[in-house]
Amino acid sequence: MSSSSILRLGVLGSGRGSNLAAIGRAIEESRLAAKLVAVLSDQPGARILDLGQQFGARTECIPSPTPRGRLDAQTEEKFVGVLREENVDLVVLAGFMRIVGPVFLAAYPRRIINVHPSLLPKHRGSNAAAQALAAGDTMTGCTVHYVDEGVDTGEIIAQREVPIQPGDTADSLQARIQAAEHELLPAVIATFARHE
Ligand code: GRF
Repeated sequence: MSSSSILRLGVLGSGRGSNLAAIGRAIEESRLAAKLVAVLSDQPGARILDLGQQFGARTECIPSPTPRGRLDAQTEEKFVGVLREENVDLVVLAGFMRIVGPVFLAAYPRRIINVHPSLLPKHRGSNAAAQALAAGDTMTGCTVHYVDEGVDTGEIIAQREVPIQPGDTADSLQARIQAAEHELLPAVIATFARHE
């Protein structure tokens, strides 16, 4: 990306896309100087694709022959192909229920970030809010980190704490963590947009 051009974002997700909505809002409200150019999913009918369309991004579902877990190299090539066509500078994984591999990582070194609903390195993987409750934690939160070949193992960029309240269920806690994600993720992307 040249120092004068606006950061071009590609967002990948498998679900409802509340983090994409937060990014879109931040752009609309001029809190984030970036352009949402591609929203891609592995899940046909994922709400994140409708949202992407509403924000004016190119949207595509790229299904994988495997139902979950790692993407095969050919499918990764398809994702990367679209991101390259759209000259994406930063790839944001927002609820993308896949493990990205060497094709992605080689195409976007230190340019793929993920948001995760725990204070990493605690509670990697799925159901992080339930994991925090089961561990008896009194504090949890969310993390934005660089993506590497592991699951939620990449270098941490920023975190936000969320206190666990008595009577919290996995759902109530996840909802409060997501509210924190919706502030943290656009703020982190803004640091990329400012070339920090
Ligand atoms: C978020 O909680 C994120 O931390 C996790 O998946 C969830 C995606 O939610 N990786 P949404 O699709 O952005 O609403």
